[in-house]
Amino acid sequence: MADSVNFTNKDRQHKTVFFETFGCQMNKLDAELSLGLLQEEGYRIVDKADEADVILFNTCSVRQHAEDKVYSHLGALKMLKKRHPEVVVGVLGCMAQKDGEAIFKRMPHVDLVCGTRMFSRLPELLLTIKNQGSHVLAIDEDQIVSVKRPVAYRPNFYQAFVTVMRGCDNFCSYCIVPYVRGGEISRTIADVKEEVQSLVSNGCKEVTLLGQNINSYGKGLAGGITLGHLLSELNDLDGLERIRFVTSHPADMSRDLIRTMSRLSKVCEHLHMPAQSGSDRILQEMRRGYTAGYYRDLISYARELIPYIAVASDFIVGFPGEMDEDFQETVRLMEDIRFQNCFIFKYSPRTGTKAAELKDDVVDEVKRARNMKLLELQKSISLEQNRKMIGRKVEVLVEGASKSDSHKLSGRTRQNHIVVFNGPAVLVGRLVNVVIHEVTDLTLYGKPEDCS
Ligand code: 5AD
Ligand code: SF4
Repeated sequence: MADSVNFTNKDRQHKTVFFETFGCQMNKLDAELSLGLLQEEGYRIVDKADEADVILFNTCSVRQHAEDKVYSHLGALKMLKKRHPEVVVGVLGCMAQKDGEAIFKRMPHVDLVCGTRMFSRLPELLLTIKNQGSHVLAIDEDQIVSVKRPVAYRPNFYQAFVTVMRGCDNFCSYCIVPYVRGGEISRTIADVKEEVQSLVSNGCKEVTLLGQNINSYGKGLAGGITLGHLLSELNDLDGLERIRFVTSHPADMSRDLIRTMSRLSKVCEHLHMPAQSGSDRILQEMRRGYTAGYYRDLISYARELIPYIAVASDFIVGFPGEMDEDFQETVRLMEDIRFQNCFIFKYSPRTGTKAAELKDDVVDEVKRARNMKLLELQKSISLEQNRKMIGRKVEVLVEGASKSDSHKLSGRTRQNHIVVFNGPAVLVGRLVNVVIHEVTDLTLYGKPEDCS
């Protein structure tokens, strides 16, 4: 590991960085924080790898496919590195943590391997490579959970992601996260509040709190702090309009937290709570710590207290030993709960996890067919749910021009629907009431109430 290094003015000049991120929202936020740090050191961001002095990939290990993509991107840089040996190539994040030294063996043109708890040291690591001309491996378990955040650096001026905890202690049998991101560490309420306050002072209106297992926020902090306490404190911040949090784990989601959500006006009616499977036998093999019945009861309770709550889920198909009867129970759960949207994944064995000891016995063709079946079912449910929105008035936080039609505006409801409508640019950043008149499975279209 590099000792603390002083940057000279020369080091600060004319540096360009290309950064590509794979994987979850936490990775995207880590990328923003890393880029913020590099910008402070004088780096300019470029959007083509062949124009950069430093090329960085922030990586994901959750499924094999994500790793294959990174190795293929790295392979494609071999020629560029031959022509320009001075260009620095770095692998950051989960894959760096998991594969470590092996990345240099497989891809000798890589200069930096920087793990999940080291990215705050990125500027000094890059300087070490430049000064020493050697590979740098940095995968220690730094306990840093708070990086001074450059508030101006966020993808949307009115919204920001805020990491409130890192790591996971759950060890679901299929999941690599606890191995690559380490154990749970929560930031203090004061620390999070300070960050949210500075975002709000800078114009931000909505925050999404991030944690791999956010319901266990507070574990390890003094005074029996819970996510409910954090939400209550943030709810009192003037200027902040909306609060979301992801990702919830059914076994750690307390009824008390649902009551707190229903009480706090700024906490949005939206829950991303992966069920993973509808089969109790598979859930047990996955070591999820709940049954499908428990999950159903939890959703019923949430819907009783928060009538318009939208629920999203993740599902894994083709877990070892998943029989057709198990899969049918997943289908039934999806049909019964009627999620707003779902992410569906084919099981991918991860070396080192408990499930990797089981035979990956569901053939790819079956995994693919089950995946398609759930995607189609969810698409029809999303359309049906969205149709119920026709004629309703929804509150939209206007984010900016619509990606599909730059003449229109786009924003999100409290339930996280995307809404597209015609309106003047002055509405950007405001909360606007929109009456919905048309929908697809992914988008609502409407007319703002106060605009003729
Ligand atoms: N194979 C397939 N999907 C996985 N997920 C996590 N680990 C695996 C794996 N080994 C999915 C889960 C989780 C989401 C982020 O990724 O559904 O909720
Ligand atoms: Fe992985 Fe389970 Fe932790 Fe989620 S709760 S990150 S699925 S181990």
